[in-house]
Amino acid sequence: VLCWFYVFPVYRLPSDKEMVEEVLRQGEEWQKNQTGIDLYRKLLSECCDPKRMFAVTKENSPVGKVLWYDGEFYYSHTINNNTYSLFVQDNPLQLPLKKCAVVGNGGILRHSKCGGDIDQADFVMRCNLPPISKEYVQDVGTKTHLVTANPSIIEKRFQSLLWSRKDFVDSMKVYGSSYIYMPAFSMRPGTDPSLRAYYALADSSSNLTMLFANPEFLRTVGKFWKSRGVHARRLSTGLFLVSLALGLCEEVTAYGFWPFSVDLDQRPVSHHYYDNILPYKWFHAMPEEFVQLWHLHKSGTLRVRVGRCP
Ligand code: CDP
Repeated sequence: VLCWFYVFPVYRLPSDKEMVEEVLRQGEEWQKNQTGIDLYRKLLSECCDPKRMFAVTKENSPVGKVLWYDGEFYYSHTINNNTYSLFVQDNPLQLPLKKCAVVGNGGILRHSKCGGDIDQADFVMRCNLPPISKEYVQDVGTKTHLVTANPSIIEKRFQSLLWSRKDFVDSMKVYGSSYIYMPAFSMRPGTDPSLRAYYALADSSSNLTMLFANPEFLRTVGKFWKSRGVHARRLSTGLFLVSLALGLCEEVTAYGFWPFSVDLDQRPVSHHYYDNILPYKWFHAMPEEFVQLWHLHKSGTLRVRVGRCP
């Protein structure tokens, strides 16, 4: 039975140590709760219509439509013939997705041995073009069906794709024939690099399919969590994907979500599984987000894997 406080939890933010204690108290116990799953799918459908709205498509964004940037005030892009031609016709995913794995980039994944578990999912979502090279495979798996790419990565790692595109095209090969999900219409400076990424892939006959995140969807999902106490300027990529997964999948497991400084054995843990570069503190509210995920875990709505996989 789902209590009201799972839906509208009231809490103060726990310390890292308290969070560890809480997770240890719960232990490995987890019980799927179909009522919780159905409720969240319904809530998310009502607020945000993920099936129809998660990407910019020809169906939801005709020529002439104004897309308001969700990460900036007062800027918009009016869809013209050029941009329209880059959109997929309609939601391309085969719905409903069955078992989904949402893989965050938290350092908790290091030495987790969760790779096998992740690869068993029917649909694997990853954040921000993460490394999945040999040295990480045991911990993060090999499969990817959807991976997000922030325009800032295109700018920093691939010189905005103004010069050679080979490095970019080659680095994308590890993601096989997955979808690349880019927030091309979130911040104005991100649009051009995103469109260049589209062309780079299209021109090289890549197996990847570009999907542009729909700013309307990102905005409504942001509001959804704000009304549940997540007070960030912007949600983290991971929480967007979890929300998408709750809307589209029959079962969701989250890996690599642990924005705390120590692991379950109280040992220091790096921010990412591949580096320790910290985010801007004021931008996201990852610990707040984790508390929400943990409520969903305890209510059986999704499963959060912290620590090692069996
Ligand atoms: O771009 P962003 O800072 O949101 O993400 P990231 O550092 O590339 O990590 C991907 C996602 O994993 C984040 O959006 C968080 O949801 C999650 N994450 C976490 O929960 N704990 C961490 N220590 C690092 C990332």
